[in-house]
Amino acid sequence: MSVDILDVIRNRRSIHSFKGEEVEQEVLEAIFEHASWAPTHYMKEAWNIKVYQGAGKERLVDEILESYQRIGMIPQNKEMKTMKMMQSMRQFLTHIPHHALIYFHKEEDPIRYEEEYASICAFIQNAQLAAWAYGVGMLWTITPYMHDPEFPASLGLQDETIKIAAVLQIGYPEKTPISKGRTPIQHKLDFIVK
Ligand SMILES: Cc1cc2nc3c(=O)[nH]c(=O)nc-3n(C[C@H](O)[C@H](O)[C@H](O)COP(=O)(O)O)c2cc1C
Repeated sequence: MSVDILDVIRNRRSIHSFKGEEVEQEVLEAIFEHASWAPTHYMKEAWNIKVYQGAGKERLVDEILESYQRIGMIPQNKEMKTMKMMQSMRQFLTHIPHHALIYFHKEEDPIRYEEEYASICAFIQNAQLAAWAYGVGMLWTITPYMHDPEFPASLGLQDETIKIAAVLQIGYPEKTPISKGRTPIQHKLDFIVK
């Protein structure tokens, strides 16, 4: 496959609505393999990915809803309004073909921590660009349940050092948003010459 990297960087969009069909496993593997060429200090390659899809999404969605109740985003009652809210969130989340949880083991040293998180962000953007080249859409999300200390263990990620860096929603785009454009870089770019 040959693509113009500059076109991909500029034209990639965050995708919010997906077709129902799954992306083939080989394509997802290829996307994350490309992502793994991200720069990584000390060759730590700190990224780990768990992709929830098919029946595997049920447990994830259950745990997300429980987390939302724990952290107070959804009331903990059985009122009709609450049940409807949970049902519509469940439907929305289940319709997304793949949820890729990107996590790493936190370093105690804040500098190392920053290096690893930064490298994982580069990994994620590589994944977004590679996905775009394959015609696959992604949404990089940072969601409240990622900050619920009980959430990783609820999915069997027992190690207390685990930090979820992002959750990528993945699938073939149903709709591609129009670009919001960017501020001209000259507004943010200074050349210091003396
Ligand atoms: C770290 C990070 C977290 C994001 N979290 C969300 C999110 O939770 N929900 C969402 O709709 N978009 C999220 N986005 C996507 C941005 O909203 C999106 O990149 C921005 O609107 C620009 O659109 P574009 O990516 O199509 O150029 C996130 C982006 C980044 C980099």
